[in-house]
Amino acid sequence: MIALAPLTAALPYLVKPALDEIFFNKDSRMLIYIPAAVAAIYVLKGLFDFGQYYLMSYIGQSVIRDLRDEMYRKLEEMSVGFFVRHPTGELLSRMNNDVSLVQGAMTNAITGVVRDVGQIIALLFVVFYRDWKLALLAMVIFPLAIYPLLNFGRRLKRYSRRMLVSLEDITTRLDETISGIRIVKAFAMEDYERERFRAENQKLFNAFMRRFKVRALSNPVMETLGGLGVCAILTYGGYQVIGGHSTPGTFFSFIAALFMLYEPIKRLNEANMTIQEGVAAGERIFGLLDTPPDIVDQPDAIELDAVREEVLFDRVSFSYDTGEQVLEDVTLRIKVGEAIAVVGESGAGKSTLFDLLPRFYDVTAGAVKIDGTDIRRFTQRSLRQKIGIVTQQTILFDDTVRNNIAYGRPDLPLEQVVEAAKAAHAHTFIMNMPQGYDTVIGENGIKLSGGERQRIAIARAILKDPPILILDEATSNLDSDSEKAVQTALEELMKGRTTLVAAHRLSTIRNANRIYVLAHGRMIEDGPHDELLARGGEFARLYNLQFAGQGPPSNGPSGVSTARM
Ligand SMILES: Nc1ncnc2c1ncn2[C@@H]1O[C@H](COP(=O)(O)OP(=O)(O)OP(=O)(O)O)[C@@H](O)[C@H]1O
Ligand SMILES: [Mg+2]
Repeated sequence: MIALAPLTAALPYLVKPALDEIFFNKDSRMLIYIPAAVAAIYVLKGLFDFGQYYLMSYIGQSVIRDLRDEMYRKLEEMSVGFFVRHPTGELLSRMNNDVSLVQGAMTNAITGVVRDVGQIIALLFVVFYRDWKLALLAMVIFPLAIYPLLNFGRRLKRYSRRMLVSLEDITTRLDETISGIRIVKAFAMEDYERERFRAENQKLFNAFMRRFKVRALSNPVMETLGGLGVCAILTYGGYQVIGGHSTPGTFFSFIAALFMLYEPIKRLNEANMTIQEGVAAGERIFGLLDTPPDIVDQPDAIELDAVREEVLFDRVSFSYDTGEQVLEDVTLRIKVGEAIAVVGESGAGKSTLFDLLPRFYDVTAGAVKIDGTDIRRFTQRSLRQKIGIVTQQTILFDDTVRNNIAYGRPDLPLEQVVEAAKAAHAHTFIMNMPQGYDTVIGENGIKLSGGERQRIAIARAILKDPPILILDEATSNLDSDSEKAVQTALEELMKGRTTLVAAHRLSTIRNANRIYVLAHGRMIEDGPHDELLARGGEFARLYNLQFAGQGPPSNGPSGVSTARM
């Protein structure tokens, strides 16, 4: 860039000797020197131009790559609550659209600014050197150009921000309708959704157009101002030449430099606009990067190496951002190797309670403790390594069965994966699939049935082999046949582990060591199954509600009950 500037300025500089020596003085030696110099300048200029463009792009793209990595790292660091507050579409849009605006600013604009400023300075030097009085005259229009330049920049920043918000909205809309397409179709809501999309799209269009209006205005405004300047100079400069105070060579050298000045100034104006857009996007990106994660490891956090005695929910209270108290003063004690069950009506707070153990959320009062140590003292990583979670919403990846079961450990031998699948009663149906363990199961396991999906999730938990197990409604959306298979798989999984079960279906928890009854976030009863039933309280009420007219239940599904279940 530094080399480019004098090379660029050398061209108009040479206009004076070219005109005055060749055309007026008819000096034939100059006929060789000057074209040779021009040729050399162009070759060098080309080389440096290539070098600066390539290197600056390299720097720009490296910055963008690092920024993306940083954003991704940040997203992974955020707590579950963050993702509840920010819809998927919003985050996707920020990752793609905002980053590409910054990318535009980095590669095209910021890189160009240094080059253009260098050229402007060099050209100004020629302009002043040739005729400083004329140059001063030309400078008069400069302040006139500054104001629109700043004004356009400010407005673009504002419009870009609006455009990015609009892009976020439309991405969220898109994400929701694509992933919810079955519901959209089932409710014949295509027209409604199309109208909603059209409205968002129109908003985006308007935002874009406002932005382009500023961009479209900026060039003509700059050009007109420049033209006015040239008029003034032509008049005064021509007058000087006619009056014999200057040579045509000086004048044309001056004019050539002035015209060449126009290009970098125009580009600088473009760059300013692109940079302002980049700044708008950058502010949003750094807004995200600067958001402190709500759940972090303590600086002196310790590793949880084993669970030896118990898991204790010690007078735990919790509320979401909404402020409403979801859990109040809940105490729950689970000895190692025991299985406890939490029952309660829908919305009682069962899932919320279980989310506190892997620290998806932190308690607002009280503490969750393992062997007497507050879990906030442990590193999140070591804590979560000890916990296996199977819920009714199984999360699977668009990958092979094998990789889904061995999630995070692709180098695990196939035999171990098969063993886990067998224990989860999943081996048979996996072998019936076209490519067996190498079958790709689609986004979120869309090519599998609900029960199959759950058994894969259970196989994954078996393979992870965690000492603590959370089963949240793990069998609730299955028919009784697959429930039985999943139930058996779960019992396999629960052997020797400390287990927390949540279920509506009271038949699934009959053999838990202890049952806790949760109502509106408060623990109202607890005890062994039969004792609770005999007590005739809330548990008995729930129980009778479910089994009304079904006769007394038999003692668990035959042959599947274990010591714990
Ligand atoms: N992310 C959230 N933000 C705000 N409130 C929430 C959030 N998740 C759940 N709630 C509220 O917290 C309460 C308890 O919800 P939770 O999911 O723990 O109930 P549950 O006992 O698991 O119910 P179910 O049996 O239907 O699964 C509900 O009133 C629910 O509306
Ligand atoms: Mg729940």
